[in-house]
Amino acid sequence: MLIIGPRDEFNLRLSELTGFDLVELEERVFPDGEICPRVILNGRDLEGEEVLLSIRMSSGGSNPNSYLVEVLLTAINLKRELGVHRIVAFLPYFPYARQDEIFRKGEPFSSKYVAELLESSGVDEIISVTVHLHRLKSFQDLFAREVRAINISGFESLARYLLKKNLDSPFILAPDTEGIHWARELAKFMDVAEFESFEKERDLATGEIRTKVKKLNLNGRNVIVVDDMVSTGGTMANAVREAKRMGAKRIVSAFVHPVLVKGALDRILGAGADDIVATDTLRWVGSKVSVTDEVSRYLRGALY
Ligand code: R5P
Repeated sequence: MLIIGPRDEFNLRLSELTGFDLVELEERVFPDGEICPRVILNGRDLEGEEVLLSIRMSSGGSNPNSYLVEVLLTAINLKRELGVHRIVAFLPYFPYARQDEIFRKGEPFSSKYVAELLESSGVDEIISVTVHLHRLKSFQDLFAREVRAINISGFESLARYLLKKNLDSPFILAPDTEGIHWARELAKFMDVAEFESFEKERDLATGEIRTKVKKLNLNGRNVIVVDDMVSTGGTMANAVREAKRMGAKRIVSAFVHPVLVKGALDRILGAGADDIVATDTLRWVGSKVSVTDEVSRYLRGALY
């Protein structure tokens, strides 16, 4: 197997851990924003090869749409022009996953349509990390049976980092009821007994968030506020603020996907978080932990 992707720290590490060669993908952008991802072949023939297409979206509110187009154009090119036999697409952060149903009549079922676009581009298998699946049972439900869909937990790598911090009897808190399974997952990897969730209401039209709190005794506690992703930071900031109000001594904001649109970090820190811990599923300079260990373990063990 070969890895096709940008020559960045993430893919170099993946290459080192798996032993698969990295073939660089040059990410050319034209002045009008159109993209031309080019596989730097350097005389290499990809005919009949099996490849891991590994591209990450950038954090900071950059465009998920151009990211998707880059993945689709590259996948089609690999199969159609370069004769690749099998493509495993690795999208560490799966965009559009939150639209996992039609919430209001007239909206698209975006996560399903994105899955269909990937299928039709010729991708044979998809690997992602902690896919936002609240209303679907599994990642595989988005795809046709022939396309294998693998969802790797990003909480294991977060736990690895948090355990090194030796937080005294931590309490794990999710900002909303849907997040309770993230709290449970992190608690399992950290072997922590206490976890809970607040409740959240989001206005479907304006996006405005209201956090409903349960009374918790967090006096003097180390609290880890956990979520799968942070975008505007509103959900996380509300939960951090409430935890602080309930007496938390130290608050770590931990999440897998640092989507982080402009202002999100300030919002969370301003609410009282002492530390922010996120993985490298998106390109972000602040990532403290890498999911490449878990992904390469899967690649080495389960398949090849
Ligand atoms: C929602 O269900 C997710 O798990 C996150 O809580 C949400 O996407 C965070 O969004 P924001 O940072 O914009 O509040």
